[in-house]
Amino acid sequence: MISGKNVIRKASVDDLEEMFKLYTLYMFDSYIAEVSPALLKTWLQQLVESTNCVVLCSAKSKVMGFIVATLNSKKLYRELIFNKHRLGFLKEPINYLRMVEFLIYPFKIYLTNTFAEMVFIVVDPEYRNRSIAKKLIFGVLKEMSNKNIKKVKVTTVVSNAAVNNLLNSMMFKKERRFKFLGKDMFLYSYDIANLNYLY
Ligand SMILES: CC(C)(COP(=O)(O)OP(=O)(O)OC[C@H]1O[C@@H](n2cnc3c(N)ncnc32)[C@H](O)[C@@H]1OP(=O)(O)O)[C@@H](O)C(=O)NCCC(=O)NCCS
Repeated sequence: MISGKNVIRKASVDDLEEMFKLYTLYMFDSYIAEVSPALLKTWLQQLVESTNCVVLCSAKSKVMGFIVATLNSKKLYRELIFNKHRLGFLKEPINYLRMVEFLIYPFKIYLTNTFAEMVFIVVDPEYRNRSIAKKLIFGVLKEMSNKNIKKVKVTTVVSNAAVNNLLNSMMFKKERRFKFLGKDMFLYSYDIANLNYLY
């Protein structure tokens, strides 16, 4: 548990419905938001249950925010797209040009010896500006440090000031700018060895 007013804990399948609501209402930047609600629910459940993921939420009586990170993003994309739900995914009304972009995405965000990635974070607008996102990210960094992971990456949309300010304030390093699905994006990294100096 992380100190502070809200409890930061591992998300469970019992949180899925609230996580799904937060995701569909407020994750405007997400590139997986285009899939059907049914597949999105399946994916969220896969993320929560995966040993390759760290999914934390900030919760009291309800979930106020959550973060999804993976220890190995290439493995995660394979798990989501090509494993047991492959048929469900292929039934989606996919634009195949966009599909090609998805497939080359892991190469666009390649960083030497960096496999862990923060996939997305969202906080209910009612509870924003209370450092919930900061605590969720810190929770993930601590969890990664415990798993002996040295470096983590994260991508953001350039126009999303809130998340870019958040990462800059936590001393994430801006690695490069790139294009994905027509959007300007930043790739950041965080050297987990720095964690003890910051907190
Ligand atoms: C980005 C987001 C998660 C931030 O959540 P939050 O709990 O309000 O963030 P915090 O309170 O921990 O903010 C920490 C820092 O982030 C920055 N920040 C947060 N919201 C900001 C805003 N609206 N504008 C500018 N900077 C902002 C600030 O630097 C802040 O530091 P400060 O408090 O010292 O000023 C939230 O705005 C959100 O859910 N946005 C929609 C989903 C999204 O875009 N997710 C990111 C893409 S994966």
